[in-house]
Amino acid sequence: MTVRVPVATTTRHYEVVVGRALLTSLSALIPSAGESERLVVVSDDNVAPLYLDTVAGGLRAASFDVSSVVIPHGEAQKTLATLETVYGALYGAGLTRRDVVVALGGGVVGDLAGFAAATFQRGVRLVQVPTSLLAMVDASVGGKTAVDYRRGKNYVGSFYQPLVVVADLDSLATLPEREVRSGWAEVVKHGLLAGGETLDLVEGGAATHERPSERLIETQVACKASVVARDEREETGERAQLNLGHTIGHAIEAATGFRRYTHGEAVALGLRATLWLSERLCGLSGADADRAQRIISAVGLPERLDDVDPEAVRSLVRRDKKADRKGVGYVLLSRFGAPAPGVRVEERLEAEVIEWLQRR
Ligand code: GLY
Repeated sequence: MTVRVPVATTTRHYEVVVGRALLTSLSALIPSAGESERLVVVSDDNVAPLYLDTVAGGLRAASFDVSSVVIPHGEAQKTLATLETVYGALYGAGLTRRDVVVALGGGVVGDLAGFAAATFQRGVRLVQVPTSLLAMVDASVGGKTAVDYRRGKNYVGSFYQPLVVVADLDSLATLPEREVRSGWAEVVKHGLLAGGETLDLVEGGAATHERPSERLIETQVACKASVVARDEREETGERAQLNLGHTIGHAIEAATGFRRYTHGEAVALGLRATLWLSERLCGLSGADADRAQRIISAVGLPERLDDVDPEAVRSLVRRDKKADRKGVGYVLLSRFGAPAPGVRVEERLEAEVIEWLQRR
C-alpha cells in the first residue's frame, strides 16, 4: 500500500510517498512533470548499478531527456570538489530552472545533489529518491542540503525543499547490513525524542535485528514531517531537537576524516554520550539510560569510540554549526519524549564523556 505523508513548510508543500515498486513509475509521482523536459539523476557507485537503469528507463519511457552522474560512495565524497562534478553534469545536460535533479541514493547523495539543485542557476527543481533507511526516515525529509567543508560537517549548505520525496521500500532489500544498522541510529533517535509507544515500537523492532517495518518507517516520516512543518529553518528550537546525539556524533565523524564511521555509527556514539550526559545534567533515570543503551546495542551499533584524540573531538564540538561564542548547546533528555535543548556542558564533563566513550 502506498502512503502519502504531507510536509507543509513555509516555502513548499509536498509529499513523502512511501510504498513499493515506485522506482519504475517515478514520472507519475513528480508534480508538474510535464513542464520539464530534462532530468539529471545523481547517484553513487553503490546504488547506480542496482537502480539507475530502472529509474532512468521509466523516465525515458515517459519521454524525458534523462542523463546521469555517478559519484563514488561515502561521506568523504560530500565535498566541494564532488559538488563541482555534479555542477558539470548539470551544465553539460543543459539543465534549465524548469528541469529536475533526481537524488537517487542515501543521505550523502541526497545532501550533495540537493545542494547542487539548490544552488545551480540559484535553484532548479529537486526530487529526492532515498534508497537507504537513514535517508528515508531522516535526511531526505525537510530540505536540509549540504556538503562538508574541511572538518566542518555540513558547513556549506541550504534549506531547499524538494518537489516530492519517493521512498521505495523495496530498495531496502538490497541495503547492506552496515547501512541498515546506520539507519537504525536515526530511528532510535526519533524513538527517544518521542518516547511512549513510538519508543516501544522502536525497541521491539531493534530486538529483531531486521529492517524496520513499513509501519515504523511511516511513523518516523510522519514525526519528522510534523517537526519540519513547525520549524522549517531550525529557528524555534523544535527542529534543533533532531540534533540529539549529533553534536558529538558530527565531531567524531570529522575527527576520523569522514571515513571510519558511517554517519549513523557516529550518531550512535553521540547518542550514547548524550544519555550519559543526560543522566548527570538533566535527571534522566539510570534505568532509562540503560534501556536506551541496550536498544543501541541491540541493532549492532558501535559500543565504543576507538583510537581518536579526545581533544580533536572536543575542538570539533566547539566548531559545531550550532555553537555561539559561549559554546555549543547540547540537546539532552530529561526523560523519554522530553528533550532539553540548549544545555551547556562544562569542559570537564565534555572531556569525561569522551573518555567514557573510549573505555566503556
Ligand atoms: N536531520 C536533522 C534535521 O533534518 O533537522
